Amino acid sequence: MRIVRAKDYEDMSRKAGDIIAAQVITKPDCVLGLATGSTPIGAYKRLVEGYEAGDLDFSQVKTYNLDEYRGLPGDHDQSYRYFMNTNLFDHVNIDKANTHVPDGLAEDYEAACAAYDEAVAAAGNQDLQLLGIGNNGHIGFNEPGDAFVRGTHCVDLTESTIQANSRLFDSIDDVPRQAFTMGIGTIMAARTILVMANGEVKAQAVHDMIYGPITPACQASILQLHPNVVLVADEAALSLC
Ligand code: F6R
Repeated sequence: MRIVRAKDYEDMSRKAGDIIAAQVITKPDCVLGLATGSTPIGAYKRLVEGYEAGDLDFSQVKTYNLDEYRGLPGDHDQSYRYFMNTNLFDHVNIDKANTHVPDGLAEDYEAACAAYDEAVAAAGNQDLQLLGIGNNGHIGFNEPGDAFVRGTHCVDLTESTIQANSRLFDSIDDVPRQAFTMGIGTIMAARTILVMANGEVKAQAVHDMIYGPITPACQASILQLHPNVVLVADEAALSLC
């Protein structure tokens, strides 16, 4: 795992945004695995600026997002589809038909999850997979547990994730209790994985990801087995390393 130290959120966003931009420049028809949450917002802004400056062309890029809340339609302002549209897709020349987020309303969700994995594989897998990390070490919504789940699946969110994500909802009762997430096998199929982390609240998870035992109790620890991971993190997130 290569560690890129950043001073603060702005610096992390610039560095990570530039790594994604380099991917788009060097392979214009690349497949990007994307994440939501507070962490990547600044990096997406950097990509929008790159597009506006005429440096980036997204017309051939395909994207597959990590996850979506179960039960939220794509036009709900807390859905991850809405997040991606408003933070990135609406502001660059990407073809929305080439952007994919798990369907939060899928009724036959097992079939929908299997189809999602097949679509990622049929696209040739992710050239670059962007990840944030949960305070509890989750990646995507793969929560701490006793197994690593291979494919896209439905998860029960842990109390700590519901608590952490409630900051974005009117009330904690509004936070969905389940989500669909790419599995660990789908994530690990990416040729490059770019992890971003900022803030002291992530310090323990970042430490365990890099130096802890490889265990499903810290799902991010599996990244120790991937040959091409870059972590871009600020000083606070690296404070226990
Ligand atoms: C989001 C995702 C999650 C987040 C993680 C960190 O698509 O898959 O794993 O990356 O919960 O969230 P933030 O960035 O809000 O701290």
